[in-house]
Order: sequence, then C-alpha cells, then structure tokens
Amino acid sequence: MAEVVIVTSKDDAGALVADEIGGLVVRRPDAVLGLATGSTPLPVYDALRPGLRGVDVSRVRGFALDEYVGLDPAHPESYRSVIAREVVEPLGLDPARIRTPDGDLAGIATAGERYEREITAAGGVDLQLLGIGTDGHIGFNEPGSSFASLTRVKTLTAQTRADNARFFDSVDDVPRHCITQGLGTILRARHLVLIAFGEAKADAVAGAVEGPVSAMLPGSAIQLHPHTTVVLDEAAASRLRLADYYRYTWEHKPDWQGL
Ligand code: PGA
Repeated sequence: MAEVVIVTSKDDAGALVADEIGGLVVRRPDAVLGLATGSTPLPVYDALRPGLRGVDVSRVRGFALDEYVGLDPAHPESYRSVIAREVVEPLGLDPARIRTPDGDLAGIATAGERYEREITAAGGVDLQLLGIGTDGHIGFNEPGSSFASLTRVKTLTAQTRADNARFFDSVDDVPRHCITQGLGTILRARHLVLIAFGEAKADAVAGAVEGPVSAMLPGSAIQLHPHTTVVLDEAAASRLRLADYYRYTWEHKPDWQGL
C-alpha cells in the first residue's frame, strides 16, 4: 500500500517532499524528476529553493506530466511556461534538460511517442510528483483512462476545465485538449509522490488510496505501484478510513527507512 503521511500544513508537506528530492539529487546528481503543475506542488518548489542551495543541480533532468494542446508555448499558462517560471528558473535548473510534452498541433500525432522515447532515453523518472484532480485525475488522465496508457492526447472534462479556469481569463479560454503522460507512463516512475490539500480533494484522495482500483478514478492507479508516498493535510485526509493507522505507522516508522 501507499505510505500515507498526514501533515499539519502545506509548508510541512513541501519541506518533507523537498527533503526527499534534495537527498535524491545529492545521491544522484543526474536524477530524473517528474514535475507537476497546478497549485499543489508549489510548496515543494518553494521549499526546494533553500533546500537545494549549495547542491549541484546542473545535471538534473525533468519531465513535466502534461501540456495543453494548441496553446502557444509562450503563453504564460502553457505548462512549458509554468514549469520554466515556477521550477526551472527559481531552482536554477538547466532549461535544456527539462521537457514538457509537445502540444503543437503540427506534430501532435507523434508527440506522445516522441515524449515516451525521451523519457526512456533518460533512463526513466526517479521521482514523480503528482497532484490529484477533484475528479480523481492524475496528470490529465481523466476518468476512464486506461491503466496501460502512455503519453497521448486526451479531452479535458468540463470539471477540469472549470477547475483550471482560474488560470485563464475565462473557462472558454481553457484548451479542450491536452497531451499527458499516461497512467502506464506514470507507473513506470520509480517513486510516486502524490500530494493533496483541502476538503475538495478528500473524496478523490480516499478513492485513490483506499480504492477500489478503477479506471473511473485514475488516481487509484497508485495502488498498483510498489513505492508510493501520499502526503496530505488533515482536510484532504478527512475521508480516509485508515487515517489512524497511517498516523500510527508514521509515528513508528523505523529510522532506517526513508520515504
Ligand atoms: P491543483 O491541480 O494542484 O491545482 O489542485 C491538481 C491536478 O489537477 O492534478
């Protein structure tokens, strides 16, 4: 099962995950990070800024989970721009080593395959950060996504477009299509770290962590992975049936065991 860690604040979640990433980069200077966009990972990136100070990040590689299709990469809300602004620049990563799926319509038919090849050529993702949508999506794998899916184009649900409208002038400006790593792609990463905050995520989190495993709740794919860490605040953890057990397990975690 996933290790579930319930923390008291977003900052605590950010510090915990940043510590894990920092350790990974020190052990493995050419670590491959799976980067997520959205509000959830921001405390991790905030904590990494001081956390990675003095650490050589020049060889770190990164792959974003997803991108909008047909949105100019220079648009401030393209995930390429978001990753550059929120991760690459503040952390001093080498932009040439950071990739987002290619959402350009011109090459869209082959973009998924090309992205998969790049991830494979990099040796796969060491640590994949994940948020979760209110509809249970991870990456942009909307309900019904195959557990075997690889990077491909998906149609966003009305719910996801409404959730993301806050980043655009209006919901009409949110693209209808995206290109996203598949659930099968995500499951190949060596360590999954799913983070969620707030009451609005509580149902999706309960479904993802405690099942049943179903394509109708794509986040439940984490139950098929041998090494997943789920970091939650109290509100996001509020519908977990085994919350007390997770707390007990964390309290009594052996010293030798990392995340
Ligand atoms: P959020 O999005 O972090 O902005 O809540 C999560 C997601 O949609 O995966």
